[in-house]
This record gives sequence, C-alpha cells and structure tokens, in this order.
Amino acid sequence: MSTCLLCLVLLFFSVVAEATYSPGGFHHLSSLRQKKKASKSKPELPFETRYFPQNLDHFSFTPESYKVFHQKYLINSRFWRKGGPIFVYTGNEGDIDWFASNTGFMSDIAPKFRALLVFIEHRFYGESTPIRKKSHKSAETLGYLNSQQALADFAILIRSLKQNLSSEASPVVVFGGSYGGMLAAWFRLKYPHIAIGALASSAPILHFDNIVPLTSFYDAVSQDFKDASMNCFKVIKRSWEELDAVSTKKNGLQELSKKFRTCKGLQSRYSASNWLSGAFVYTAMVNYPTAANFMAPLPGYPVEEMCKIIDGFPRGSSNLDRAFAAASLYYNYSGSEKCFEMEQQTDDHGLNGWQYQACTEMVMPMSCSNQSMLPPYDNDYEAFEEQCKSRYGVKPRPHWITTEFGGMRIETVLKRFGSNIIFSNGLQDPWSRGGVLKNISSSIVALVTKKGAHHADLRAATKGDPEWLKEQRTQEVAIIEKWISEYYRDLRGEN
Ligand SMILES: *[C@@H]1O[C@H](CO)[C@@H](O)[C@H](O)[C@H]1NC(C)=O
Ligand SMILES: *[C@@H]1O[C@H](CO)[C@@H](O)[C@H](O)[C@H]1NC(C)=O
Ligand SMILES: *[C@@H]1O[C@H](CO)[C@@H](O)[C@H](O)[C@H]1NC(C)=O
Ligand SMILES: *[C@@H]1O[C@H](CO)[C@@H](O)[C@H](O)[C@H]1NC(C)=O
Repeated sequence: MSTCLLCLVLLFFSVVAEATYSPGGFHHLSSLRQKKKASKSKPELPFETRYFPQNLDHFSFTPESYKVFHQKYLINSRFWRKGGPIFVYTGNEGDIDWFASNTGFMSDIAPKFRALLVFIEHRFYGESTPIRKKSHKSAETLGYLNSQQALADFAILIRSLKQNLSSEASPVVVFGGSYGGMLAAWFRLKYPHIAIGALASSAPILHFDNIVPLTSFYDAVSQDFKDASMNCFKVIKRSWEELDAVSTKKNGLQELSKKFRTCKGLQSRYSASNWLSGAFVYTAMVNYPTAANFMAPLPGYPVEEMCKIIDGFPRGSSNLDRAFAAASLYYNYSGSEKCFEMEQQTDDHGLNGWQYQACTEMVMPMSCSNQSMLPPYDNDYEAFEEQCKSRYGVKPRPHWITTEFGGMRIETVLKRFGSNIIFSNGLQDPWSRGGVLKNISSSIVALVTKKGAHHADLRAATKGDPEWLKEQRTQEVAIIEKWISEYYRDLRGEN
C-alpha cells in the first residue's frame, strides 16, 4: 500500500491477483503509482517538526522494551493560548507530513478554537522507524509495529507535551482519517482520560472478522460507477475479457504493452489488469467534489470524468481501449507521463509497513463478486496466510482486532459504553461500507454524506465546496464545541 486509506496491499498469486487495500488506499506489495507522479515535493507546512524519544515496547519491562526510537511530530501553536484545546491527529500508515497536508480541516478550525495543532507520526512509518533502514526487514523488530503500541505512543507523547507546556488541563480532541480514523476512535475508547472526543473520518472499523460482507468494498466501487453511468459500468466490466483475449494471443503481452504505453515490456497480464483496477478503485475512493491531489492529481468528481471519457468514444469502440483511456485520467491527469510504469514498486509516502500490519492484526479479507465491475475473485485466505508466513514468518490473527477493540454488534455495545465520537463517512468511498453509518447514542454519532469520499471532511475548505460538505463540517465543529464546553464546565465543577 504505497497506497493507503486503509492501504491497498496487492498480493500477487500465481493464478489469482488479489488486492488488499490500505484504508490509506495504497497498494503495498505492488504499487500502481508512477514514480514521478508521486508529488514528492513536500508542500510547505506551517508546522515545526520535533522528535520525541519513545520506548520501543510499552507493554513489557524487558530490557529490550527500553530501547528508544525517535517519534516525529508536527506542532503549530500560532493560535493557541495556554489552557486551550489541543487537537491531535493520530497518524496512520505513512509520512505524517503527507497526512498533515491533506488534513487542512484542523488548521481551518484551529483559530476559532484557539487550538494547538499536533500531528503525530505512527511508529514504523515515515521517519519514525525504530531501527534505521532495517526496521522493515527484521521480524523481531516489526513485532513492535501494531495499533496498541501506536495508541500508547500517542498517549505518552500527549502527556509529555502537556506537561512541558504546563497545560495539563487542556482538553484533547483526536482526529484521524482512514486507519488514522480507526486509531482516533479506539483512542477515545481506550484512553478517555486523555482525549475528550474523537473525529473518526472514513474509519472502516467494521471491516474485520466478516462483520461486513467480503464483497462490500468492490460492490461499492461498482456502485459509484453505475451511479455515474450504467454504460460506463458495463464497458469496464466487459473490458477484462478483451484484456484476456489480447494477452493470451501469441505475442499478446507485447501487443498489450504497446496498447498500454508501458515503459517496459509487460511480464504478466495481471500487472495490466491490476493497473486498470487500481485506477478505478482509487478514483472511487478519492471521488472528491473538487479538484484534489491526495493519491494523484485529479479533477472534481473524477468518477464522472472517467465515465465521460468512456461514454464519449464512438459506438463500436473496443471496451479495453475505453477502459485504458479512463484509467489514464488517474495516472496521467497532469499530462506529463511519457509512458506507464506498471510493474515497478514504489513507495512514495513511506507506507511500506502496512503489508506487515495487514499480515498480523489488520486482516481485512475481501472478495470480488461476479456482479462487480472488476475481475471476480474469491477470498483465498490460505494463500494469504502462506504469503504472510513466507514474507514475514508471521501468521495473521484475524480475530485480534475485534477482541481488542470490539466491532461485533457495535451499536448495542457502544450504546451503553463510551461517548463523544463522530464517525463520518462519504458513501462514494468504498471503505464506507465498513464504517459506522448509524447513530449509536446521543454522543456517538454517524455523519454520512451521499456524495462524500475518503475523509473528504478532513480536507481543507475550498471555494468550490458543495453545501453538503460545508454542512457536514459545520456540524462537526458544533459537536466538538459542545464537547469542549462540557469539559470546561465539568472542570469548573458546574453541572
Ligand atoms: C518534554 O520535555 C522533555 C525534556 O526536555 C523532552 O525530552 C521531551 O521530548 C518533551 N516532550 C515532547 C512531547 O516534546
Ligand atoms: C499523457 O498525457 C499527455 C497529454 O495528453 C499525452 O501527450 C501523453 O501521451 C500521455 N501519456 C501516456 C503514457 O499516455
Ligand atoms: C455468480 O456468482 C453466483 C454466486 O456465487 C453464482 O451462483 C453464479 O453462478 C455466478 N454467475 C456466473 C455467470 O458465474
Ligand atoms: C445522527 O444524528 C445527527 C444529529 O445529532 C444527524 O444530523 C445525523 O443525520 C444522524 N445520522 C444518521 C446516519 O442518521
């Protein structure tokens, strides 16, 4: 998942190609991204960068546990006054700068709340790697990469920061998107004494242990395209047959490489089909109402734009040509690609620990039904397990997340436990199917937008934002305001 919104991990098997998407939306084992497109150039962020010495292991007292690594965090105190609220982004599977630059909502609302802004990088991602270079190779060290350690890191860092600022009574609100949103919600549930509330945007906390159907993710991708144009859906659905027909011909891969303008000759037709699928999946995730550059630069409502390309071809055109032209919108909207790199792995956002997390605790199995727009596949759990064993020497623990954090019958559980969590989702985002979409109690609420995409609400406001998005953010601000004023009232001992 050099992709992540719950990172996409593409696992290539000899026969089937199976995708594991990071909520961040990244392909891990094989990136669909282009090297150059990566917008490596980091935008100037109004943050100071700091490093906090963090213990490797918070849950034992063995000598090894006292090893220290430096956890990066970003801080902006321009709007803050002592005693005021602290807004913390609970970092997910990538460079924290990348999330900070795609979470403008927090900066937008900081002046109103006079809040301190803090973005904490997740351990083992970006620069916060315990053992330089080696940290993704050694299974022994990788064992310390998990969500519980990450939550404890956040708790320890926040306490230290408040102490250093002599502002221990400041209310803390946590924010997160995708896996970061899961962390924000779980943080509120596990550390209610540290955070007074959480905004968990596009957090698929129900994507575990068969709580939602395995086909739901790809069903949602298909629905997005159907909503844009039924013809578009059909063209893409039919294009896979044509892809197979071309590639199984004599010199078929050569012909396909030419057709798809690949930089190097294709070794496998699965690379081409994953490249196409990736474009449709990621575009569904980032189907934002205005132009944005999260995974790649794209126009507003890019799914509709793709479908316009497909529907605009003359009658009788090949479905594969149309699908390729549509996918090119995702990979070449800037118009700067000379050729497409389909078999080269890249990791533009420091996401490469997600594969390991997907092989241990973040087990989110998927399958693709034959009603879907993408090539159907069954979930092959045994093959996945084998991959994890051979790659990292670990066996996935598919029930751990629901044991540690819950998820089964979440409504009845959280109805009588917990408070102050906003679960926001946009239904365009395929991850929304694994999100909390119903209000649970008066303070555990679901804000759902029909046209929203992957944590659209966390993005900076822009001039072209539609009313429903403005409305969603206004509602979030009002709820957070309420949490904070209740907190101060409690602090003063009022009822
Ligand atoms: C708080 O101050 C101590 C001592 O200077 C420092 O080691 C630590 O990193 C600081 N905490 C944070 C969160 O920056
Ligand atoms: C990318 O777009 C530009 C401008 O439309 C075009 O000239 C170029 O051929 C495209 N690249 C590929 C690989 O299709
Ligand atoms: C599609 O899948 C369903 C359920 O798995 C199965 O009953 C049906 O035969 C399949 N249809 C085709 C055309 O493969
Ligand atoms: C949850 O409640 C809020 C009001 O508190 C409402 O605006 C929102 O639409 C409700 N969400 C759902 C999914 O019904």
